[in-house]
Amino acid sequence: MHLFLLLILQATAAIGQIDPAHCRYPLGMEDGRIKDDALKASSQWHETTGPQYARLNREEGHGAWCPAAQPSVSQYLEVDLGRLTFLTVIGTQGRYIRNSGNEFAREYRVNYSRDGKLWKSWRNRQGNEVNAYNSVIKDLRPPIVTRYVRLLPVTRLSTTICMRVELYGCSWDDGLISYSAPEGQRMQPPGYPIANLNDSTYDGVHERGKLFGGLGQLTDGVIGQDDFTRTHEYSVWPGYDYLGWKNDSLEHVEMEFVFDRQRNFTSMKVHSNNMFSRDVKIFSSVSCWFKPHFVWEAEPVEFRTVLDDRNPSARYVTVDLNHRTAKSLRCRFYFADVWMMFSEISFQSGNKHTHVQTKVQNTSVTPDDGKTPILIGCLVTIILLLVIIIFLILWCQYVCKVLEKTLIKQALVFPTACGGGYAEPDITQCTPHQCFHSNAPHYAETDIVRLQGVTGSNMYAVPALTVDSLTRKDISAAEFPRQQLIFREKLGEGQFGEVHLCEAEGLPEFLGEGSPLPDRDGHSVLVAVKQLRADATSQARNDFLKEIKIMSRLNDPNIIRLLCVCVSSDPLCMVTEYMENGDLNMFLSQREIESTLTHANNIPSVSLSDLLHMAVQISSGMKYLASLNFVHRDLATRNCLLDRRLTIKIADFGMSRNLYSSDYYRIQGRAVLPIRWMAWESILLGKFTTASDVWAFGVTLWEIFTLCKEQPYSLLSDEQVIENTGEFFRNQGRQIFLYAPPLCPPSLFELMMRCWSRDIPDRPTFEGLYQALKPHVNQS
Ligand SMILES: *[C@@H]1O[C@H](CO)[C@@H](O)[C@H](O)[C@H]1NC(C)=O
Ligand SMILES: *[C@@H]1O[C@H](CO)[C@@H](O)[C@H](O)[C@H]1NC(C)=O
Ligand SMILES: *[C@@H]1O[C@H](CO)[C@@H](O)[C@H](O)[C@H]1NC(C)=O
Ligand SMILES: *[C@@H]1O[C@H](CO)[C@@H](O)[C@H](O)[C@H]1NC(C)=O
Ligand SMILES: *[C@@H]1O[C@H](CO)[C@@H](O)[C@H](O)[C@H]1NC(C)=O
Repeated sequence: MHLFLLLILQATAAIGQIDPAHCRYPLGMEDGRIKDDALKASSQWHETTGPQYARLNREEGHGAWCPAAQPSVSQYLEVDLGRLTFLTVIGTQGRYIRNSGNEFAREYRVNYSRDGKLWKSWRNRQGNEVNAYNSVIKDLRPPIVTRYVRLLPVTRLSTTICMRVELYGCSWDDGLISYSAPEGQRMQPPGYPIANLNDSTYDGVHERGKLFGGLGQLTDGVIGQDDFTRTHEYSVWPGYDYLGWKNDSLEHVEMEFVFDRQRNFTSMKVHSNNMFSRDVKIFSSVSCWFKPHFVWEAEPVEFRTVLDDRNPSARYVTVDLNHRTAKSLRCRFYFADVWMMFSEISFQSGNKHTHVQTKVQNTSVTPDDGKTPILIGCLVTIILLLVIIIFLILWCQYVCKVLEKTLIKQALVFPTACGGGYAEPDITQCTPHQCFHSNAPHYAETDIVRLQGVTGSNMYAVPALTVDSLTRKDISAAEFPRQQLIFREKLGEGQFGEVHLCEAEGLPEFLGEGSPLPDRDGHSVLVAVKQLRADATSQARNDFLKEIKIMSRLNDPNIIRLLCVCVSSDPLCMVTEYMENGDLNMFLSQREIESTLTHANNIPSVSLSDLLHMAVQISSGMKYLASLNFVHRDLATRNCLLDRRLTIKIADFGMSRNLYSSDYYRIQGRAVLPIRWMAWESILLGKFTTASDVWAFGVTLWEIFTLCKEQPYSLLSDEQVIENTGEFFRNQGRQIFLYAPPLCPPSLFELMMRCWSRDIPDRPTFEGLYQALKPHVNQS
């Protein structure tokens, strides 16, 4: 065990660097590790909206921090993290309190301070101060090292804004508060692109060719590449990751490092470029002086690098600091070639790594060269250790997967395979006896040739019905004389039924005055007729009747309408409105957004206000379903149908699943699930509610504003979508959200993001969505 510990310490010493990709832990706003007295604000609207209520996902007080509305004064929320922290992500929310509040800040800026006195503004990699935030989770690029953080909501006019936040990152164990250095230089070699080796994220002072009082690229966790002109970030210039100097103006590069407190230093690691073909080399030597209190000690620690002319890789050079104690360090790096370039510098201190390094390494000079047998031995042990760690991680992941799979299986396959929802009975693995009780559709599964708007399955959740309880009197739709249905065209076909386009003679008279009817063709009306095959199983027959029963109770302009039925004799049929423009998915995917180009070339197009109008109609239909406590379970553009006047009616089309089979995920060949539309709790817990319909509505909105040109999360495989669901559940900021469609107004994307809130009370209701969407239509 002792050996194992020792090896781990050695391994961390060898890696020993913050990795921004993994340093994303919630820092304690939501779970209360950050105490109330660490939260301050410039003002508060009311006692119950003080800064102590600015906690993500919490609903105490009046649900959030809301400053007094004084737009001229810049308001802020201040968080004291209690220690230096490497901050990578900020998550924000507005105020909801069970939907009675909806104030949020669309944008905010970030100020930070390492000492609580000197405040700096966060700037992005292009050096701009604004942080136009339009998502709940905002990565700080670049991340910052800080103890105090202020969020400054950007207010417009006199709107009230409220905020709840979580901060993500990890502790900054280096303890480095600032470094000073000569300003980086430009490399302008003939025949090569100009490389600018300045420290562009430095947050201190630039004066007379010197940087001081700040941190920057040497502490941002990004390690430069072997070729210094290549960068990890997009849209930055060659040389971005490095701070570099040329030897013609400087004899050496002197840097001073200031720490939060006195530390007992083990080592300093300098990540350095070594591209000698372009005259860049690791420093030839370095001397460091120590200042424990007020005076610099005379005796430096000196280190000579073993230069490497064969391997041009950039690398860490570990300089042993010999357990000297100091609060400040001053190091002189000497040139080995024309250029010297660093991308990261980190310090190891305290007793953590001490015994490891003294045992293994030469105390004063330790080239990271890998030539000595001892170092090779170290590397081998490190690799072995990593293998063990990786094995442990994989094993752990495997265990988690198995657990998650069991969860999913229990939650979805089991209750649904024989109990309703999304089971697909043709391929269930349960026995015929069990399947007899299935609520799932039996009559419309395979081989659809074309698609037309009638509902195909019973996805509206209703109190359980048994076969016996279904009688004719449960069906409120009127019986239509079968001989008055005149066949025109076959629209679709499934295993247990067919859908026909028919003319219904005398239907207007049959339904009576005042009954809103779809398109008339003189005295007759075009309708869609879904007919159950004579040879259908009794279960399919029961499902068919049940669907009729549910549909006959629904009456809303945005829900597909059952006009009448023929159930007194076989074959059973249901007659619904004919939706001429098919489903919304197909409709939008064949269109472009309206522009002069589409006008000029006669390309089928839709306008932004058409899209908004569609969204309003869907929310209105869903509002109606929600008012009846019906849960749809499969809201998506493919299940929204359009008539000639582009009125949208929500339908549920079991048959469409063949056409859109890639939208559904099969779990071991049993359940068929629209996972890309499903809320995390539906996937993980099998819980379908109006709130999970709201989630699906958010995805449907997203489809509309991408004109259905892309499947949601198209870059993720089904397995990755399910993994992402786990991230939504854990809510540690690692979940991937759908991106903001370029066409989509920011306020609308805001609304979508709210539909994808982890916690159900944070999601809007359909009533709220409808009220929020409606004004957009009138505007545009
Ligand atoms: C934010 O930081 C800037 C300096 O960059 C300072 O001028 C401003 O007063 C700060 N604002 C607050 C509220 O801390
Ligand atoms: C660094 O160099 C880039 C590219 O020339 C320039 O845009 C940027 O303003 C510079 N940054 C600083 C802080 O000098
Ligand atoms: C620094 O740590 C080492 C190892 O624990 C110890 O031997 C040494 O005395 C410490 N130095 C100071 C000045 O505390
Ligand atoms: C800079 O480096 C080049 C190449 O090593 C060397 O010839 C030259 O003398 C150096 N100049 C200074 C000022 O050190
Ligand atoms: C470390 O190595 C250098 C030469 O590389 C040698 O001069 C020095 O004595 C060694 N120190 C110890 C403590 O072994």
